[in-house]
Amino acid sequence: MKTMIDVRHLNLEFGEGEKRNQVLCDVNFSVAAGEIYGLVGESGSGKTTVLKCLAGLFTHWQGELAIDGKPLEHNIGHGRCRMVQMVFQDPYGSLHPRHTIGDILEEPLQIHGMNDRDRRINTLLDKVGLNRAFRDRYPHQLSGGQRQRVAIARALILEPQVLLLDEPTSALDVSVQAEILNLLADLQQEAKLTYLMVTHDLGVIAHLCQTVAVMQYGKILETLTVDALVNGEAQTDYTRMLVNASQQYSREMAREVAVY
Ligand SMILES: Nc1ncnc2c1ncn2[C@@H]1O[C@H](COP(=O)(O)OP(=O)(O)O)[C@@H](O)[C@H]1O
Ligand SMILES: [Mg+2]
Repeated sequence: MKTMIDVRHLNLEFGEGEKRNQVLCDVNFSVAAGEIYGLVGESGSGKTTVLKCLAGLFTHWQGELAIDGKPLEHNIGHGRCRMVQMVFQDPYGSLHPRHTIGDILEEPLQIHGMNDRDRRINTLLDKVGLNRAFRDRYPHQLSGGQRQRVAIARALILEPQVLLLDEPTSALDVSVQAEILNLLADLQQEAKLTYLMVTHDLGVIAHLCQTVAVMQYGKILETLTVDALVNGEAQTDYTRMLVNASQQYSREMAREVAVY
């Protein structure tokens, strides 16, 4: 199958001298076209940093990154924006507060000199379950779920093949999380998109992903199919611990729900 995201020997450090901090250490993985690939690991293990390297938000990495067979430059060019876009965890911080939703969606189209903007914006608002009435609203007039729908629409407006999703539902109310995950699944199916998705929720992994990479301390500990993960075939203690912790959590949740 065609490889859509290829990460080879990715290294990245922050700071110099005594403050030097190696955040990514020889990260390697690849994602097939049309796949939903999960990235899990404890806080601070480097998940967001991997996505930011691919999105061009960090440029001082070393190694080889490629999207759809095309090597990525260190600086972010217009071509990259058309291929890969990122959706952030926090829909409150990621939308400009003084821009209307219409402006937010129009800006990338303007920058890239795309025509037919009205039609593209309205079509996409429909696709993410909003409508054109939202064009004149400001982010603070929207719920968290609606904001994340706008952030997803903004990420898709240039019709990229790849979405990098950084815990896209973890800032949302539980009741809204499933809606947004279903929307992401529908959009992926419809356009045969490739997703690289960071999540701490193994339920989300089991439900949406085909393959998962487990990170710890800036390294990939193992990559495994979700079938293997669910069947208890993880190779490392750390992954088994993550699975146990999430099962424990589900049991505790179930108990709490039963108590109330
Ligand atoms: N801009 C930055 N400057 C310095 N250190 C950073 C920066 N961004 C991330 N880090 C460090 O990189 C490590 C990995 O962070 P991150 O990728 O955000 O982890 P995760 O998303 O897995 O929680 C952390 O130790 C964090 O402090
Ligand atoms: Mg993170």
